[in-house]
Amino acid sequence: MEQTLIYATMEMDPARRVEIDIGCGEGSFSAELARSLPHALVVAVDTMRGRLDKLRRKAARLGLENLVVVESEAGFFLHAMLAEASADSIHLLCPDPWPKAKHRFHRLASGEFADLIRRKLKPGGLFHFSSDDAPYCDAVERIMASNPQFKPTPLPEHLKIIRTDFELQWLSQGKNVEHLCWISVSQGQT
Ligand SMILES: C[S@@+](CC[C@H](N)C(=O)[O-])C[C@H]1O[C@@H](n2cnc3c(N)ncnc32)[C@H](O)[C@@H]1O
Repeated sequence: MEQTLIYATMEMDPARRVEIDIGCGEGSFSAELARSLPHALVVAVDTMRGRLDKLRRKAARLGLENLVVVESEAGFFLHAMLAEASADSIHLLCPDPWPKAKHRFHRLASGEFADLIRRKLKPGGLFHFSSDDAPYCDAVERIMASNPQFKPTPLPEHLKIIRTDFELQWLSQGKNVEHLCWISVSQGQT
């Protein structure tokens, strides 16, 4: 039988707050965000089915009806499934740092990624990045500083108290996890 895969752009209510957690892992951050923002739609994206299944079970246990779990590669999700100017926040938290120079191309955060998330954020939308890897944080700061359509902003209060699964692991090992945020600005507003 011939099979056709059809991918659709997610339907979003433009009036609803939309939070995207890219590379959510087991998704404690997504779940807590959905619990703390009951009127928002939280979309948790990852490629690892086992981790997403855990998040689905957690969401069911907590009765979170505003959390959507998407099994997808991040770039594909952002390009093909997320409409332009539809997200209030995009979170990329503790992504794999790929510390060796020869593996850097695997990193999710790059100049192209910054352009892509800029298109997907609503005007004034937030990009939130965290990592325990200081060189990765420095690289992301350089990428974002070279993009005039983003301006640095402090981590919002409501996000300071939510930790991801990996962040908890790093903190328990005495590591520091840095959080960096930018808001998307229109040209001329910078
Ligand atoms: C180090 S874990 C961090 C998970 C979670 N953000 C946390 O802090 O607990 C990185 C996650 O990103 C996911 N990931 C890596 N590359 C990805 C990609 N290209 N698209 C979607 N998810 C990806 C991995 O499957 C993994 O679950």
